[in-house]
Amino acid sequence: MALVTLKEILEDAEKGGYAVGAFNVVNMETAQAVFSAAEEERAPLIVQITETTIGQPGKVTYTPLEDLMGIVNVLAKKATVPVVIHEDHGRSFLSCKRCVEAGFTSVMRDGSLKGDGKTKTSIEENIEETKKVVEYVRKQSRYISVEGEMGTLGEVTDTMTQEERKSLLTQPEDAKRFVEETGVDALAIAFGTKHGPYRGRPIIELDVIKEVKDVVGIPLVMHGGTGVPPDIVKQAVKLGIRKINIDTQIRMAFERAIRELMSEKWNKYIAEMEETLELGEEAMPPKYDLRKILGPARDVAKETIKAKMRLFGCSGKV
Ligand code: G3H
Ligand code: ZN
Repeated sequence: MALVTLKEILEDAEKGGYAVGAFNVVNMETAQAVFSAAEEERAPLIVQITETTIGQPGKVTYTPLEDLMGIVNVLAKKATVPVVIHEDHGRSFLSCKRCVEAGFTSVMRDGSLKGDGKTKTSIEENIEETKKVVEYVRKQSRYISVEGEMGTLGEVTDTMTQEERKSLLTQPEDAKRFVEETGVDALAIAFGTKHGPYRGRPIIELDVIKEVKDVVGIPLVMHGGTGVPPDIVKQAVKLGIRKINIDTQIRMAFERAIRELMSEKWNKYIAEMEETLELGEEAMPPKYDLRKILGPARDVAKETIKAKMRLFGCSGKV
């Protein structure tokens, strides 16, 4: 099935009142887990690659973009569900440009933070940076969607002052101005979510979703989907969240499976070794086979992703 843009896939989500899962992939097995989950759930799919995996142009971190894209492109060609290939948290214009040139159908220019990924930008800086990417993609021969971010991801705590909450959460009037001046296709907002697990039940400011949705006419995005309790996710989708990002939970599922499989394998080996030594025989060397570890771990990650698709309401939409 041909690739689609974020705009197209989220327009259907808007009409259907559900959210589409956006899942980060880092290698062949996580990519296969994400695609097979979508096939089995008959769900539209947003596959996303983030800079911490491929690095900034000229500075590779875990894997070169072209290597990972080689795998994603092959899987996308075989897919029988609509697929968006999306750059997650693009920290510079060049980073977005490189992904556009590599064939992505959507990019995020995360202008809410400076290039260091920590220091907050002003709304003017954010608008200027994001607009640069929108103007660039609008000159391309094919439509490419752009996701922007207004507000700063981070946990709301009950010890925060009003001021501190205000500086964290997306303000509706800022969101309206940002969308009007940049022309983005989707907007990531801050309403108390953060990347990774939370300390206890998070305080998620659901009102922010409704207030922003009332003033901007484009789909809204939840970052930091891993640790948000299912009941809150469901309310957020009802209020207008149409894209939900999941990264940490895929890694947690994958790593936990590897740990369990490895300890099972070594426990079995040690038991066999003790037995053969008692019999005075040569201890059997352990069987080394990566496929016996990565394969089952891939299946565990796939089941985690399928459960998220069902929670977001996008299962069975294809
Ligand atoms: O951009 C990716 C997501 O925001 C990841 O959030 O690691 O909490 O699932 P998560
Ligand atoms: Zn994120």
